[in-house]
This record gives sequence, structure tokens and C-alpha cells, in this order.
Amino acid sequence: MEDVHQMASRPIDERVSFEAKANIIRQRRLESAQRILMCAPDHFGVNYVINPWMENQIGQTDAALAREQWVNLQRLLALEGEIALVPPEPGLPDMVFTANGGMVVGNGVVVSRFRSDQRRSEERRFRLWFERAGFDVVDWPDEVHFEGAGDALLDRAQSLIWCGYGFRSSSEAPGLLEAIFNRRTVPLRLVDPRFYHLDTCLCPLADGWLMYYPPAFDTLSQEAIASYVEAKKRITVTEADALLFSCNAVELNGRVFMNGASAELQDKLRTAGFVPILTPLGEFFKAGGAAKCLTLKLVEK
Ligand code: ARG
Repeated sequence: MEDVHQMASRPIDERVSFEAKANIIRQRRLESAQRILMCAPDHFGVNYVINPWMENQIGQTDAALAREQWVNLQRLLALEGEIALVPPEPGLPDMVFTANGGMVVGNGVVVSRFRSDQRRSEERRFRLWFERAGFDVVDWPDEVHFEGAGDALLDRAQSLIWCGYGFRSSSEAPGLLEAIFNRRTVPLRLVDPRFYHLDTCLCPLADGWLMYYPPAFDTLSQEAIASYVEAKKRITVTEADALLFSCNAVELNGRVFMNGASAELQDKLRTAGFVPILTPLGEFFKAGGAAKCLTLKLVEK
């Protein structure tokens, strides 16, 4: 796998000065750097129920533990890329899940149009952050629900967008994304309410690998996945692993950051050339999210 570590270790001409070498290394690191948007869990909690994970969890989160888990994830990711932060807002407990802020392609971004009223006030906060960060915010019709990188994921080898719909994003969302970003978009219908966002049950990995939980999709969508990704590049996970939010993983430079995974799934990932790195995120389960939901990739790669 051509990862940044390999790229960074490409031989540099020995005859150049020390400073010139340092500059080349710095430049390569900048070129390869991922940027990730996160939001500190200052106001995180379960205050309402909009997915099955949140049932019976109102007021049940431990703020100190949530912070510890979030900080651990942030520190791990900061070793692999640059972390940008959007300020947390009182009264917006789900804003920690920055994956739902929008969908970034190149310098363009579609800001989410949340299905639930409880999350709609996040739209303005994310829009403001994207505008200030210099992104081009693309127009999106108010009547079409779309929950950003929670439901729309870039394949890592092919030029295509996987777009989940059925629970949160509307069925019109994939077609709109395809038109806006001029990139083939594969609509995937989600059918298991526990896996209500695409990133809870599907994770594109480097080199065209795809980790996913097939029963979360209807038959046609499972067939669509199979038609785009050859069998040997599909890593299917069991229900038990799916319930550990193993598909809700962040892959950076070949390392797969996730809440948990069985020994079997970890082996499958290693065989595919990845390094699974487990970091517990149990407090965020209570709101229906884990590693991937807590991040938004800002650079396309
Ligand atoms: N409580 C949040 C919601 O239901 C969790 C969002 C998880 N985010 C994700 N990208 N899957 O909207």
C-alpha cells in the first residue's frame, strides 16, 4: 500500500543541503496531510431520542468519561493528520458528531439538512465554520434531507460516492450529489434502524477495500456493492462486530481507528494490509455513534 509513510521515506538526493532535505520532508508531509474536523464534547449528552441507541439513555452519559474517550481518539488521530475544531454549542449535544456537518468534495461542501428538528440548529454552526475555513458552500434544496458524511462516503480507489438513504437522508440525496459533484453516486438503501447512517455499516478503506455489514442494506444495494467491489476486496463483518460499531472506523495511513472488533475481524484487516487500532468510545454509543461519526475528513483522500 502506498501510504504516507512510504511516500515520506522516498529517497531524497543525498547531495542537497540539510535545510533543503528538511524542506522536502516538510513539503511531503503537508502534501500528504489529512485534515479532520472534530468538536469537543463539552455539551455532549443524550437529551432526546432520534435513533434506537438513544432509547433509555437520556441523561445517562458520563461527561468525564466521554471527554477522556474523545481526547484519546483525538490524540491518536492527531498523529496521522491535522485536527481542526468547530466550537461546541450549548443545547446541541450531537454536534460532536461532525461527520454529520456536511460532505466535502475538493473545496466544495454540501452542508447537512438534518431530518430531526433537534439537530437543525447545527446546520448554521457548520455552515459558518465551512465558510470561514474557505470552503465553497454548495446550494442544496431545503426539502431534501441529507446528513453529510454520515450518509455519503467517498470510495478510496474509484471515483465514486456511496450514499445511504432511507432513515435520515432522502432518496433524492444521491442523485443531487451526483449532479453537484459530477461524480457517480451509488444509492444504498439502509434497512436496519440500528444502522441508520451509512457510516455505521460501511467503511471504504484505502486501495479500494470496503468493510461493511451486508444485512444493513436491501438486496439491490447489496448487489450494487458487489458489482462495484470485487469479492476479494470486500471485508464483511458479523452482526456482533457491527454492533461494536466496527464499521464506524476512521482509516488514516493504513491504520484503522475503531471502538472495537473481534479477533477475526482484526485478522481480516491485517491480512488486507491494515493495522486495527482500538480505542473505546462507549459513552458515544449511547447517542448512536463511534469513531467515524466523531470526525469529518476535510481533504479528499
Ligand atoms: N445522535 C446522533 C444522531 O442520531 C448520532 C449521529 C451519529 N453520526 C453518524 N455519522 N453516524 O443523529
